[in-house]
Amino acid sequence: KKYNMWLQYQPVTDSKVKEQYQLLLDQVCVIGDGIQLQAAKEELLVAVPQMLDKKFNVSNDPYNSRFVIGNKIKLAQHLDESKQAKLADKNEEAFLLSSDEKQLIITGNSDVAVLYGVHHLLRLMQLHADITQLDIVEQPKNQFRMLNQWDNFDGSIERGYSGRSIFYQNNQFAEDKTRIKDYARFLSSVGINAISINNVNVWEEETYFITKKYLPEIQEIASIFRTYGIKLYLSINFASPVTLGDLDTADPLDQNVQNWWKEKTKEIYEYIPDFGGFVVKADSENRPGPFTYNRDHADGSNMLAEALEPFQGKVIWRCFVYNHLQDWRDRSTDRARAAYDHFKPLDGRFHENVILQVKNGPMDFQVREPVSPLIGAMPNTNQMIEFQVAQEYTGQQIDLCYLIPQWKEVLAFDTHIKGEGTTIEEIVAGNIHHNKYSGVAAVSNIGDDENWTGNTLAQANLYGYGRLTWNPALTSEEIAKEWIRQTFGTNQEVLDTIEDMLLNAWEIYENYTAPLGVGWMVTPGVHYGPNIDGYEYSKWGTYHFADRDGIGVDRTKETGTGYTEQYQEPHQSIYNDLDKVPDELLLFFHHVPYKYTLKSGKTVIQHIYDTHYKGYEQVEGLIEQWNGLSNDIDRERFENVKNRLERQLENAKEWRDQINTYFYRKSGIPDQHGRTIY
Ligand code: GCU
Repeated sequence: KKYNMWLQYQPVTDSKVKEQYQLLLDQVCVIGDGIQLQAAKEELLVAVPQMLDKKFNVSNDPYNSRFVIGNKIKLAQHLDESKQAKLADKNEEAFLLSSDEKQLIITGNSDVAVLYGVHHLLRLMQLHADITQLDIVEQPKNQFRMLNQWDNFDGSIERGYSGRSIFYQNNQFAEDKTRIKDYARFLSSVGINAISINNVNVWEEETYFITKKYLPEIQEIASIFRTYGIKLYLSINFASPVTLGDLDTADPLDQNVQNWWKEKTKEIYEYIPDFGGFVVKADSENRPGPFTYNRDHADGSNMLAEALEPFQGKVIWRCFVYNHLQDWRDRSTDRARAAYDHFKPLDGRFHENVILQVKNGPMDFQVREPVSPLIGAMPNTNQMIEFQVAQEYTGQQIDLCYLIPQWKEVLAFDTHIKGEGTTIEEIVAGNIHHNKYSGVAAVSNIGDDENWTGNTLAQANLYGYGRLTWNPALTSEEIAKEWIRQTFGTNQEVLDTIEDMLLNAWEIYENYTAPLGVGWMVTPGVHYGPNIDGYEYSKWGTYHFADRDGIGVDRTKETGTGYTEQYQEPHQSIYNDLDKVPDELLLFFHHVPYKYTLKSGKTVIQHIYDTHYKGYEQVEGLIEQWNGLSNDIDRERFENVKNRLERQLENAKEWRDQINTYFYRKSGIPDQHGRTIY
């Protein structure tokens, strides 16, 4: 049960619904023999018999089949003009579901589109929807819908909280590829179309992934993903020519280096003709890059782009570039500024097949950050946004944190870069600057734990990431509902309870951790649990500047780092102005006294006390809610979540008491309600 995530395909118990499904789905006629169509057929052969408790065959005869699938070219003679027209102005991945009592057709603009259509049908069936009056045309809003695995060859996963890698074990490729295939199924069911399979930090041995030593095995993985419409990418080491011992420089303007990458790329494409391209973390946290040779990021990425260009490959170049060797005494350097300062001046210099990947916030996936001002700020450059499905700073899949509401807030942010309505959602969908490529990427949260995500409820984040990038108009509630029903069945109480838990989880997590947008305050290195000064005197550029009088980072233009100027109006003025800045981001932008009054009417210090007591109590509430489901959920999944919630409570307690005590000792201001502070 837990192994199948949201593709449970539980028997349909409602007899009326079952009857309807049985009638239409007696057999499937598959027209065409493309690999993704085969995958669609295979999925149906697993799902339908299980759900409908009956035999289900494949036929070649469209005239005697109620259920027909195939791409629009193969199905042309079965599609009337109106159906053809519906797909005509849609992209390659668009599908169409059309049905009445007697016939169900799934078609699309490509084979993979049909696979998406089949998954859509199976989703509807898992939701027990009526499938006899379908007239659905869908296409993904985002072009790139990517996942980044941070898996290392030794089997560990950087920031992985769900066990070891499903791809690698002890510097070998997993022999049994069943889980890779299942992962591909899950991903295609929510429309993911690209994956990079190794950590952005490319260590010594992984540098060899682009050589004959490992390409035959990577080819195998690529073909698994290809079957599900997912393109394979590799993270590469910018210094490869040196690390692999071929050259003594990796200077992107050196002819030998350029030729080396051209040859290398050609070789990769001999193994994987539809290879997606390179993901590159360069000049970031000790990774090599063009700076070593006094070149910039355009020089570096363009060199790789030229090598990939003849094969339609892409360079996905990450913008997580900042000085991680900062002197905390130096108050003029602001890590938040770094990505924009590095990349904005390079706008227009990148090749057409370079895509810049920008983290959603200017720091690093904190529970609360403003939206990165770099996204949309380079009108002549391809960009994608990067989210983190892995809960590095949001509870590490011990604590519950449903991230869809956070991502929705980011997508809804109106940058005003081209006037009102220039939202992140439209920018990354490519509708504002109309660059060739755009989309969304995210760090995955899966591992070889039997339930894939450590905490069973963390599956909702992976599911939701896919659904949201396909269709950002879906609400957090809709996504939660879909996921719960498919994962846990149709019990209304289970549905309502888990939905409520998920929807409040982000706020709860924010309540008991770092307050008012200031971020960090986590245990250095592991990033779980509180350590208020853990990063305060460190090189990483992540400070809160709390003293006896106040707290927060002054990023205003008059007295601070001037970071606010990276935003368009009205945000520049809003963030810069103490009277206008939203409470939840106050300490990200301003340094204020503890008695400063928030828009909520509370003082900062009282807000800190209140949210921390409340956050802890809310976790107690989550436990109570979950315990109420003990008879409605199978033992294993029930115990898995229960156990994690209990650990979450411990964590929340530690956060509550350390934060409250720290700020009480700093400020000397007592809690208005006289609660216990240590
Ligand atoms: C974070 C994370 C690192 C990761 C980095 C990145 O800093 O802690 O483990 O390598 O992000 O995105 O490159």
